[in-house]
Amino acid sequence: MTQDSSPDPQPPVSHAPLAGVIGWPIAHSRSPLLHGHWLQRYGLAGHYIPIPVRPENLAEVLRTLPRMGFVGVNVTIPHKEAVLQIADIVTDRAALIGAANTLIFREDGKIHADNTDGYGFIANLTQNAPDWCPDRGAAAVIGAGGAARAVVASLLESGVPELRITNRTKLRADQIKNEFGAKVVVYDWAQAGNMLEGATTVVNATSMGMTGKPALRVPLDALSPGTLVTDLVYTPLMTDFLLEAQSRGCQVVDGLGMLLHQAAPGFERWFGRRPEVDEALRQAVL
Ligand code: ATR
Repeated sequence: MTQDSSPDPQPPVSHAPLAGVIGWPIAHSRSPLLHGHWLQRYGLAGHYIPIPVRPENLAEVLRTLPRMGFVGVNVTIPHKEAVLQIADIVTDRAALIGAANTLIFREDGKIHADNTDGYGFIANLTQNAPDWCPDRGAAAVIGAGGAARAVVASLLESGVPELRITNRTKLRADQIKNEFGAKVVVYDWAQAGNMLEGATTVVNATSMGMTGKPALRVPLDALSPGTLVTDLVYTPLMTDFLLEAQSRGCQVVDGLGMLLHQAAPGFERWFGRRPEVDEALRQAVL
């Protein structure tokens, strides 16, 4: 998925690096808070700002930002898929997931697109459930949207022996099976509860349970105590899904850490320091 569009070479950065997040709308994004916290904490010269970009202006803006001194941007809704068509270099995992969330504007003028959501997902679990072993049993993923694709890619890469998936719109789950291979088993939405039987990792990758959205109504009776249960929704931090799993003796990890960890590779690349994800950062973002 590499396109060559004769990019203009950029002069080496000799000023405080600029980065940001592009989306439409963008006011809700917590990324400026998160990167701002790290910049301040490490005393680094640099700025990270929210940049509202209408879909029709995406390509023009992406070619202009490097000329303005930007070293890269995060990408959020609705541009995560469209940036793949504009980038000059797309990593294999971004191509497989079908979306990018981190762009690097290289000094040779090329736009490099990567997806760090899966990295953030795994890093969150590794940090908050250090005993979790993905290869110990089947993983069950509820949802088959863009976020779910990143979760599926990272779980398969981490060695889960079987990946079960269910989605209201079954076609999207079938597509994931077709693209990600034989370890993926699709369950009917009406049978979602059965998918949890014997699973050792369970993920809500839908937007259900988010403040203002419908509740997640998957029956959790089949959950075994000790199962690792996580939710990509982090508003509220403890969703009803996590609370019920916890009451059944499961180990639960909230979704905020995924947001924090997915930001780290971009920050390191743009500002030159690997940042830490810790309680101080969580509190700053909350
Ligand atoms: P994201 O990039 O956050 O994953 P998305 O691609 O729009 O966003 O995916 C949203 C996910 O939540 C999908 O799995 C969606 O199911 P559909 O593919 O059937 O739309 C799921 N979802 C959202 N609202 C839902 C609802 N009310 N009932 C069931 N699933 C829902």
